[in-house]
Amino acid sequence: MSVSTSVQSSHWQGLISAYRSWLPVSATTPIVSLHEGNTPLLRADHLSSVTGCDVWLKVEGANPTGSFKDRGMTVAISKALEANERNTIVCASTGNTSASAAAYAARAGLAAAVLVPKGRIAPGKLAQAIRYGARIIEVAGSFDDCLRIARELAEHHPVTLVNSVNDHRLAGQQTVAFEIVDALGWAPDIHCLPVGNAGNITATWRGYTAYAAAKRCTDRPRIWGFQAAGAAPLVHGSVVARPRTVASAIEIGNPASRNGALSARDDSGGLISAVTDEQILDAYRLLAMREGVFVEPASATGVAGLLAEHGRGRLDAGQRVVVTLTGNGLKDHETSMAGGYDSIEASPHTADVARTMKLLP
Ligand code: F0G
Repeated sequence: MSVSTSVQSSHWQGLISAYRSWLPVSATTPIVSLHEGNTPLLRADHLSSVTGCDVWLKVEGANPTGSFKDRGMTVAISKALEANERNTIVCASTGNTSASAAAYAARAGLAAAVLVPKGRIAPGKLAQAIRYGARIIEVAGSFDDCLRIARELAEHHPVTLVNSVNDHRLAGQQTVAFEIVDALGWAPDIHCLPVGNAGNITATWRGYTAYAAAKRCTDRPRIWGFQAAGAAPLVHGSVVARPRTVASAIEIGNPASRNGALSARDDSGGLISAVTDEQILDAYRLLAMREGVFVEPASATGVAGLLAEHGRGRLDAGQRVVVTLTGNGLKDHETSMAGGYDSIEASPHTADVARTMKLLP
């Protein structure tokens, strides 16, 4: 029996293959891909009826390592290979970047070192970085400390930085906007997303701008970015020395792409505001229980923000809204289990189980 390696041309082969002409790659760039992208864009019926808007969810947790980071990483690691940087790639991370960097480095045959704030990242993300074989460096400090060190390492040593200060990351991440316009046939009126280090808000706006310039869409959305109240430097206008939030992925006090985020906000006529941990957790539960999408807490921040703005009367009815859900809920099972859960103990007999379910008297 022969083994065929050919695939149907309609088979999705990752976003560099799909959006090659929009990305900084050439025919000779070695493509490192896990077939990221092409994530579900779901109509959110419950959120639409609550807000009186047409709300859509871009489910980025469906990417190969469970977050939107794979969009940028396929480009960053491919470019690192092209430059023949067969050295170690390094990143600072609240967890998802480290998981993604470790996976793409493994696929490329590169060594990866990831710097994470000790005790501040969700266990599923650490489990990923461990299994993909990265060198894990747990820094007794914040994400911001990790990023400062990673940048200094890249300046003085032969290591390649793959945080979103590497522009190839932003180039890849802009494809989320392309996919949304390609799927809907239009750009939304408002695009909501969480903001941490501010790379994704910068890249999302860049993507809509590139598509509008090429006449793929007529309008660009207002960008509504949301930070956690305990980690909201862009809302307060100053660095937060000791950021704290249940949404560990966005527990960042000094965002690297601050200027990109402020431009996205101002050029789009949008906003960046803060939501409390309680609002984030309410949205986290709502997304799972009403829309059937299990996200990690940080990823519910865009929905928390949308609902908060609706409550403040700032969301006009009839708007077309897309919300990026940035990462998968399984990465942070601890938050789901926190506070316990209801269950019923039963013996291994159908009649007994039926009684506990009130199917029998
Ligand atoms: N949502 C999730 C799940 C994230 O992991 C991040 C960032 C964000 C939102 C915010 O995106 O930083 O581009 O503004 N995570 C980074 C990391 C910091 O290290 O995984 P951003």
